Amino acid sequence: MSTLAQQEFCITLSDLASFMELAPNQVKAKAEVVLQKKLKSPWLLPEEVRALLLAEGYKYPQKVISVQMLKGGVAKTTSVLNMGLRAAMYGARVLFIDLDQQANLSFALGVEDESLPVWVDVVEKKKSIEECVRFVEPHVDLIPSSLNNSVLDRVLLNSNRNWAQAVKAPLEKIKHRYDLILIDTAPALSATNTAVTVASDEVILPVNPDKFAFLGLQKNLSELEDIRADFGLGFKKKVLFTKFDGRENFSHELLQKCIESFEDSLMKGYIRTSSEVKNTVRSGKSLFVGKSPVKSDYDFVTREMLGFA
Ligand SMILES: Nc1ncnc2c1ncn2[C@@H]1O[C@H](COP(=O)(O)OP(=O)(O)OP(=O)(O)O)[C@@H](O)[C@H]1O
Ligand SMILES: [Mg+2]
Repeated sequence: MSTLAQQEFCITLSDLASFMELAPNQVKAKAEVVLQKKLKSPWLLPEEVRALLLAEGYKYPQKVISVQMLKGGVAKTTSVLNMGLRAAMYGARVLFIDLDQQANLSFALGVEDESLPVWVDVVEKKKSIEECVRFVEPHVDLIPSSLNNSVLDRVLLNSNRNWAQAVKAPLEKIKHRYDLILIDTAPALSATNTAVTVASDEVILPVNPDKFAFLGLQKNLSELEDIRADFGLGFKKKVLFTKFDGRENFSHELLQKCIESFEDSLMKGYIRTSSEVKNTVRSGKSLFVGKSPVKSDYDFVTREMLGFA
């Protein structure tokens, strides 16, 4: 169970108002009509936001999105966590899947139990996928990871079955319960990540202003193209610029290079660097309380991911 307090997990009427381009009291009035009750708190629960946005004509996507990058520390886990939590606050039904044996996403969501079943147990048919799903918050479930997943690659490659389907096939059973399935991965080009790509409608590749980041990105993009060709896949690729530091020339240069190189596949939003991020991932505190600049960055890219931007 997550350590988030209820108000940390709800969207405020004023955030919702700026998204809907209305005044907070107009949003409140609309919500009271849809929910048929008087609102007492300045925030809405995910199911209330969902009812309101559906009534307003918004449509939730049905997508499996993985976040991948062979280079470590580019903010894969941070992005999965914050985009997933924010999407749930916007009313999306979210399943997080942690497929990194470091289990940082699971820790951040307050799930730290090595004895819990993980993906390798599904592949080895010791557990069903349903048995792996943990409830975190309303609208947020997690299939956690642990060190037990460190043998997943070997298990996949030694398997007689079609290992490339080892993520996609089990997901078919539970996919209908969610709008967004967000998969966090380890920094590697691995059999596991190939199976993740096979299951993905979209692959988000974070890149940060670091000397080797662009090289890593190019290598990862060409690997994804090989996988696309080998398996006849139709996933979209999106590059997400993270840890942008406006005071550094290199940040501006690399962002410009990404704009020129990737055009449509570069996400419109990018994430600025901020010391507050560290605190949120390690403490399980939501980034969406308070006024961090990164809060509005992740808010924007979440809306882009949901197709609400
Ligand atoms: N916008 C940001 N500003 C400042 N620090 C950040 C930002 N995003 C992430 N970080 C920090 O960068 C470090 C790496 O982030 P994270 O763990 O999300 O990367 P990762 O790509 O998942 O790493 P790994 O490849 O090891 O799984 C963490 O300490 C995190 O707090
Ligand atoms: Mg990570």
